[in-house]
Amino acid sequence: VLSVGAVVPAAGTGERLGAGMPKALMPLGGVPLLVHALRALATCSRLEHVVIAVPPGTQSQVRALLTDVDGPIPLLVDGGATRADSVARCLELLPADVDVVLVHDAARPLVSRALVDRVVDAVAAGAEAVVPAVPVPDTIRQVDAAGLVIGTPSRDSLRAVQTPQGFAATVVRQAYRQYLSSPVPADGPTDDAGLVERLGVKIHVVDGERTAFKVTTPMDLLLAEAVLSRSRSRSRGTELPADSG
Ligand code: C5P
Repeated sequence: VLSVGAVVPAAGTGERLGAGMPKALMPLGGVPLLVHALRALATCSRLEHVVIAVPPGTQSQVRALLTDVDGPIPLLVDGGATRADSVARCLELLPADVDVVLVHDAARPLVSRALVDRVVDAVAAGAEAVVPAVPVPDTIRQVDAAGLVIGTPSRDSLRAVQTPQGFAATVVRQAYRQYLSSPVPADGPTDDAGLVERLGVKIHVVDGERTAFKVTTPMDLLLAEAVLSRSRSRSRGTELPADSG
């Protein structure tokens, strides 16, 4: 049986959310985003290790929030200057016997067990790198510094990539070793799969979920509150008819 380890970058400042506290600690339905994210990961029965990158100086505060999360007791590490630096630090603490590594943003609280399973199962079936993704509803145009359109990729070929991303442990460790020895340019990859791609490894895509969006702006938090209260009322059986608006 494969051993799964999870790395959770949660060290962002949350500036774009403007809440004056680290984003991962912002409450959603009264529970910090980070706790929602950890509960989603803990639905994976093969999860054996969790390492969280937290904002420097918040380890005891975060530790206190984790008392009612099931699953392995997380190790905490101070995050780095960028998300990739934070992930690199987590990987150093992840035990060597882990076969599959999930990397999951604390800022994506609403991830289902089915999504976690799809990612883990694809890695277990032999894919070295797996990302969940959803089609892009908007037309995306590429613009130059002057604000002029310089290209319009076909929407059919575009996907918005989410987390958890899943990797064979050797592959993601190698990608981050390369990252630490030759950091990426400013316009380089912004996610884990992007770094793995630099090794020439093929990235497999599984179906993501609209609700697995990343909470970045105040509007995202409103939307997440709405999604959460809908799913809570569904599980209480007090749901409004689906077509009632
Ligand atoms: O800033 P962004 O929303 O892209 O961050 C994605 C995830 O990476 C968040 O969960 C955030 O807490 C984390 N992060 C981190 N260390 C940083 C920057 C972001 O762990 N230096």
